[in-house]
Amino acid sequence: MPDVTKAMLDGQVTGIAYELVRLNDGRLPLLEPMSEVAGKLSVLNGSYFLLGQNGGRGVLLGGTVGVQPAKVVVIGAGIAGRCATEVALGMGADVSILDLNYAKLDQMRVATQNRVRTIHSTKASLAREVASADLLIGAVLIPGAAAPKIVTTEMIKSMKPGSVFVDISIDQGGCSETIRPTSLDNPVYEQHGVIHYGVCNMPAQTPRTSTQALTAATLPYVIKIANHGLDALKKFPELKGALNTHKGLLTNNEVAEATGFRAVSIEDALK
Ligand SMILES: NC(=O)c1ccc[n+]([C@@H]2O[C@H](COP(=O)([O-])OP(=O)(O)OC[C@H]3O[C@@H](n4cnc5c(N)ncnc54)[C@H](O)[C@@H]3O)[C@@H](O)[C@H]2O)c1
Repeated sequence: MPDVTKAMLDGQVTGIAYELVRLNDGRLPLLEPMSEVAGKLSVLNGSYFLLGQNGGRGVLLGGTVGVQPAKVVVIGAGIAGRCATEVALGMGADVSILDLNYAKLDQMRVATQNRVRTIHSTKASLAREVASADLLIGAVLIPGAAAPKIVTTEMIKSMKPGSVFVDISIDQGGCSETIRPTSLDNPVYEQHGVIHYGVCNMPAQTPRTSTQALTAATLPYVIKIANHGLDALKKFPELKGALNTHKGLLTNNEVAEATGFRAVSIEDALK
């Protein structure tokens, strides 16, 4: 990492960090497409591992006439959680979603016309919901920080044997004490009777859709830079705020801390 930083500084590269492009309302438009894909895939992957031959409880998400649907519990009502919920509802599951943010829960309630149970996330409500889940989906994010370990080992132990836990937030360390990263080649492991899925690059399963989604989100910024050159940094605050290196200067404090280089303010670098 220091080597890469040094090469960018020595080469006088103007580096704009993809993951730091942030709109006025706090949204991260270049990360959203992958959260959408991962959210949708979480239910497909989870329902696959619920199948009997895959070690799961052998339940169909939507149930049948006369047989109740499976219960899906989604933690986090952001982009990934919303997309997971949409797919789970579409497959006929009984869905609960938990978040700390009432506005996001309310958006889910309205968007799904009350077809989803919205629940304020507390230790007690989490413990109750996790224990009853056939499929548990972790989709929490605290921007700029590791995911909080809110699903305890005790909660996982309370789940039914053969139930499935897909932790989308594994790329930020995961939201459970029991989750660890896995790979697409070997995506699951069993712990305390629960099948754990911890793939950090879930969108790689649908490379065509993911690439199209990512490039569609990126293109408007590429066009801005193509039309305005480096002036785009002064004209568009979302690009300016994402500046990491410019004219041999480092402008990101976190990178400075991680690499030992000194950072200057973005304003100073653009003077
Ligand atoms: N594994 C993958 O392939 C993959 C792909 C894309 C995104 N992700 C990850 O998915 C996660 C979700 O991303 P997103 O874009 O949906 O984020 P987001 O910011 O849109 O949503 C996260 C939600 O988590 C909620 N939250 C925070 N703490 C909580 C708590 N204690 N209880 C309940 N909810 C809580 C927030 O209020 C927010 O609504 C991130 O960790 C992201 O890095 C993983």
